[in-house]
Amino acid sequence: VEAQLGDGPLKGKRILVTSGPTHEPIDPVRYIANRSSGAQGTAIARALAAMGAEVVFVTGPADVPPPDGVEVVAVQTAKEMLAAVGQALPADAGVFAAAVADWHVEGAGDRKLKKSKDGLPTLSFAENPDILKTISQRSEGRPRLVVGFAAETNDVLAHATAKRARKGCDWIVANDVSPATGIMGGSENAVTLITEDATEDWPRMSKDAVATRLAARIAAALA
Ligand code: CTP
Ligand code: CA
Repeated sequence: VEAQLGDGPLKGKRILVTSGPTHEPIDPVRYIANRSSGAQGTAIARALAAMGAEVVFVTGPADVPPPDGVEVVAVQTAKEMLAAVGQALPADAGVFAAAVADWHVEGAGDRKLKKSKDGLPTLSFAENPDILKTISQRSEGRPRLVVGFAAETNDVLAHATAKRARKGCDWIVANDVSPATGIMGGSENAVTLITEDATEDWPRMSKDAVATRLAARIAAALA
């Protein structure tokens, strides 16, 4: 593998990948997060690097270790992820596989909340920046190819198609993550790739195989 690095169809291309969940603190010992192992984003970064890309891997606290041969930027929160992504640009392509928390807790401080006989705590939320949308809609320094993800539990195609338009990204990789599929936390994925002019259902395959196929598509698009 080492001999392959720096060679291949993505040689000379710089690609940003976001991956994993973000953790939004409630207090110093508690947080809210999405369920995300980071497996699919990690596999994509590995596949892109294996095809010769220079990969910047911006990752929240994932279950799986980051791949070798990429520049790893570890973050906790959505705000940190947006800042790291901004630092990592410019890039030829951006793949936004992270499961970013939609909200952060307002007023999270450096003191632990304590149980009290006076009642339960009340959390108030504020919206996080939408990283994919922010980068997709940049007038300057937008990657030539921006790929978003849509993990849905129902009406997958309709939600994902609407999401592509709303965000302004080029492609959406959509999947059904309802519990019966076993995709969340598993090693396989079944995705639909939505591009400018087509919708492709890919058969269920390993997350590594999805990553390789997506990396090949990205290489073709950037060629
Ligand atoms: N995303 C992002 N920043 C956010 C939220 C989402 O970059 N604050 C990206 C994800 O990495 C993914 C895409 O946007 O590529 C879609 O995420 P998703 O959570 O499905 O979309 P939302 O717009 O947050 O809609 P929903 O209400 O379905 O959660
Ligand atoms: Ca979301």
